[in-house]
This record gives sequence, structure tokens and C-alpha cells, in this order.
Amino acid sequence: MAKGCATCHLGPDTRPLLAGYPPLDDAASFAADRRPGTSAADYLAESMAAPEAFPSPAFAGGSGPSDSMPRLRLTSEEIEALVAYLLSD
Ligand code: HEC
Repeated sequence: MAKGCATCHLGPDTRPLLAGYPPLDDAASFAADRRPGTSAADYLAESMAAPEAFPSPAFAGGSGPSDSMPRLRLTSEEIEALVAYLLSD
């Protein structure tokens, strides 16, 4: 919520305001398989730090003004906390 992720993404505890963006509520189930050789935690961290490195196959266009994941200038501590949150259940 604090970083704006919940506006676009379905999260473990929140519903998005916009439609069409990749759901993250079950990130633990897909993150390890997105990129061969990339762990779930590394994939999620990369998606936040450098979204353009690997566009999600779960995205086909959303209802918001932006058609790509924004660069949110997260600190490494924030990324670590978000990855832990998304991978916990
Ligand atoms: C303006 C809407 C928007 C916001 C806000 C946003 N994202 Fe995204 N996100 C996207 C789009 C679009 C994609 C798909 C394209 C891509 O993979 O870069 C995506 C992809 C992702 C993925 C990869 C999902 C997959 O299916 O592989 C992760 C993880 C992610 N976002 C996390 C976050 C986090 C964490 C935040 C908050 C710090 C955030 N996003 C904020 C739009 C958004």
C-alpha cells in the first residue's frame, strides 16, 4: 500500500484499484519458474528494481494509464521487505 504496488497488483491482503495487472497474491507459486536459473526471490527483486529486464508473461495490458511497470526507486531494504512479504504465506 505505502509504495503504490496495491494500486495495480492483487496482493496477499489487498485488491487492486486497476484491472489487468499481474496478480502477486500467489507470487510464491510462479516466481521460481519465470526465468530459468533465477530463484523466486531474485526474480521478484529484479521485477521491482529493473521491471523492463523481463516483462511478465501474465500481463497483456491493464486498465491504467501506464502499460509498463513503473520504476519506483525502491531502496534495497524496501525490495528485501517486499520480496519477503510476497513469498510468505
Ligand atoms: C502502474 C501500475 C503498477 C504499479 C504501481 C506496480 N506495478 Fe508491478 N507490474 C506492472 C506491470 C504492467 C507489470 C508487467 C510488466 C513487467 O513485468 O514489467 C508488473 C510486473 C510486476 C512483477 C512481475 C510479475 C510477474 O507476473 O512475473 C512484480 C513482482 C511486480 N510487478 C511487483 C511490484 C511491486 C512490488 C510494486 C510496488 C513497489 C509494483 N509492482 C508496482 C504494473 C505496476
